Amino acid sequence: MKSGLTLGIETSCDETAAAVIKNGTEIVSNVVLSQIDIHQKYGGVVPEIASRHHIEAIMPVINEALEKAQVTLDDIEVIAVAYGPGLVGSLLVGVAAAKALAFATGIPLVGVNHIEGHIYANFLSGQEVKAPLVCLTVSGGHTDLLLIPRFGEYEILGRTRDDAAGEAFDKVARVLGLPYPGGPQIERLATGGNREAIAFPRGLLEKDNLDFSFSGLKTAALNYLNEARQKGQDVPLADFAASFQWAIIDVLTQKLMLAAQKYRVDQVVLSGGVAANSTFRNHVTEVARSNGMELLYPPTHLCTDNAAMIGSAGYFSYLAGKRSDHALNAVANLRLGEN
Ligand code: KG4
Ligand code: ZN
Repeated sequence: MKSGLTLGIETSCDETAAAVIKNGTEIVSNVVLSQIDIHQKYGGVVPEIASRHHIEAIMPVINEALEKAQVTLDDIEVIAVAYGPGLVGSLLVGVAAAKALAFATGIPLVGVNHIEGHIYANFLSGQEVKAPLVCLTVSGGHTDLLLIPRFGEYEILGRTRDDAAGEAFDKVARVLGLPYPGGPQIERLATGGNREAIAFPRGLLEKDNLDFSFSGLKTAALNYLNEARQKGQDVPLADFAASFQWAIIDVLTQKLMLAAQKYRVDQVVLSGGVAANSTFRNHVTEVARSNGMELLYPPTHLCTDNAAMIGSAGYFSYLAGKRSDHALNAVANLRLGEN
């Protein structure tokens, strides 16, 4: 069936998601069932609980995506599923569902790297994405700086040596007693705060270093809170959140610009959950413009996990001739550019 329609499936963490995408760029339907409420009482995602809920939700979510798109499986040209990186028990649910549907219908199957999916979220908003480009993928599990010389080719320029940026947000938010996920909570708390109030450390800022480190910042933030508590002092929460958030944004932006200049690209691209942060987006937009570069980022709801981005990446892999078979398996630590 040459309909140009992809059914995308995503279950790598705590979102059960399915979407129908036309020609890799147009969202026909996009269903995301979040388990956030369920995991919030534990302060983070509990893998066993996540996979159990994926099992219950996966077929209803896929059916809802098809119904909203007003299509049936007969109209679908390719099925794309995220098979890593992520929680293995969660990934397995999407992979098993996708394989079963593909096997039963004969529709071609393509396994998609979840991080590649985040990058392709940029193709879903009518923006013109042009390679070569430098992309910064910042999520709960990843902080990767990538050179994309041609679509489908990835060169890792730098990555975090310890915590991911989103993880740092989540851990500090947790200590503040804020619910999971912490990024949006800290962003809200930072409103009106003074970002220069507390001088938090920036990791690995030496020239030419494109790796990241957020564990020193996290420790400094936690020490600040502990010391204030021990002395019985009130923590100026807006200033604390603004300064902490700014320490992350500042490093991310500096390294992205350093990479873009080093590899002489005109376009820089953000992806992943942390790219939903509006202070971050606004700051990078300004800095990129003043350096004569164009910045792209996905719409907020496509920065966090969804299946539309998996459908987009999967469709372009399919056009490039990639196919997966019944041996496709979940790979918890899958890296970009690996099969
Ligand atoms: O991409 P994503 O949905 O899942 C992963 O693949 O990890 O990213 C989730 C991460 C969480 O750490 C969350 O706190 C962070 O993205 N995040 C944010 C914001 N929205 C989500 N971090 C900072 N500011 C936000 N507005
Ligand atoms: Zn993600």
